[in-house]
Amino acid sequence: MGQPEETNLAIAQRLPPALAPLLKAAGEAAAELKLSLYLVGGALRDILLHRPVVDVDLVVEGDAILVAQRMKDSLGGEVTVHSRFGTAKYRRGSLSMDIATARKESYAHPGALPTVSRGTLLEDLARRDFTINAMAAPLSLPHLGLVIDPFSGQSDITRRLIRILHPKSFVDDATRILRALRYEQRLAFHLEDETETFLRRDVGMLSTISGDRIRREMELVLTEEEPELALQRAQELGVLQSIHPHLSGNGWLREKFSQARKETPRNLLASVYLALWLYGMNKNDMETLLRRLKLSGRRATSIVDLQTLRAKRTELSNPYLLPSALCRLLDPLHPAAVAAAIVACDDPIARLNLQKYLRQLRHLRPALNGEALREIGVPPGPIMGQILQGLRQARLDGEVHTREEEEALVCHLLAERTS
Ligand code: CTP
Repeated sequence: MGQPEETNLAIAQRLPPALAPLLKAAGEAAAELKLSLYLVGGALRDILLHRPVVDVDLVVEGDAILVAQRMKDSLGGEVTVHSRFGTAKYRRGSLSMDIATARKESYAHPGALPTVSRGTLLEDLARRDFTINAMAAPLSLPHLGLVIDPFSGQSDITRRLIRILHPKSFVDDATRILRALRYEQRLAFHLEDETETFLRRDVGMLSTISGDRIRREMELVLTEEEPELALQRAQELGVLQSIHPHLSGNGWLREKFSQARKETPRNLLASVYLALWLYGMNKNDMETLLRRLKLSGRRATSIVDLQTLRAKRTELSNPYLLPSALCRLLDPLHPAAVAAAIVACDDPIARLNLQKYLRQLRHLRPALNGEALREIGVPPGPIMGQILQGLRQARLDGEVHTREEEEALVCHLLAERTS
């Protein structure tokens, strides 16, 4: 391991200015406690890469929780503590930072969560995933402005390489395989040759990782700017196949993900990516994968609903489909599945129908709501629901346009029922 390497970087000055008071308070708290405090991980990597810093992680050689509590004493704010790991999250307003006690880790068996104990800064850096994430910048004098870089992360930044710290890295923690591809594609780096050899060798170790952890890593891949790049690379390296033999990240996905970014509302994009990704799988394979990844809730519903929509392609391609019939088809399905179908589908009529539903029809409501109907004299109970449904249908199909026309329709429907 090398000695601290001097740089001309004014590290602290490259952090978001809003964080300055928090960093100052953290530095002072550590100094009062006579502890050394460091900026580590992704924030330092991104500063060195001249990329915007999002999250700030600090490490203390000593008790991080004491540092966070002292920050709270001087600045106010809130502290959340995880005593088992010796970590604390300090929050003030919309700002936050994670402070961790320097630790060393060992793995009882591949894929196990690590056993953690207190360690030095160098041990803390040595337990990390890649050289570019295993650097530290002291935030207190006398070493302010230095970068502690025991694994030559700065040189790998210059050479644009993703490199693991030791040959068993992917065996200890195979989630690093997915992390490696995520960083490689996000930063336009390359896997260093030996790292790629070890990754290919250890790809099967993904089977040692729990479904929850794999799913979280996959979800992180899907939050990247262009997730299809990492998925395509994962396919080339056999990573996807080791999660499920029929999971793929091919050229179709590349085209469709890029289209999804242009056509999909932001809040649905992550679910749309996921549904598109699994679109080519058959039902059995998909169910196996959903179980393996412990996928449930909104995300799983979008995937299953997109498959349902695939089976309804013929109905959706009908140019004369009434809006009410379109809503009957699509109302029970998750909007993300409809948004994904717009991207997946090549038939122009079906695309138009789906777009009309997503942008317009699904939001359309009659002017009269339940309360207005009660005032007109509609009794509560199933009849109320039926009349509301009849009103929406008439609105959708353009049979009524105004509140008055709706009222007339309600009278007509009531009369029909009592005659
Ligand atoms: N880390 C690790 N092994 C993992 C996960 C995390 O060594 N399996 C370390 C890395 O040093 C990483 C740090 O923990 O830099 C923080 O993890 P995380 O917040 O996931 O990553 P960031 O580096 O902040 O990257 P990103 O920009 O993707 O958030």
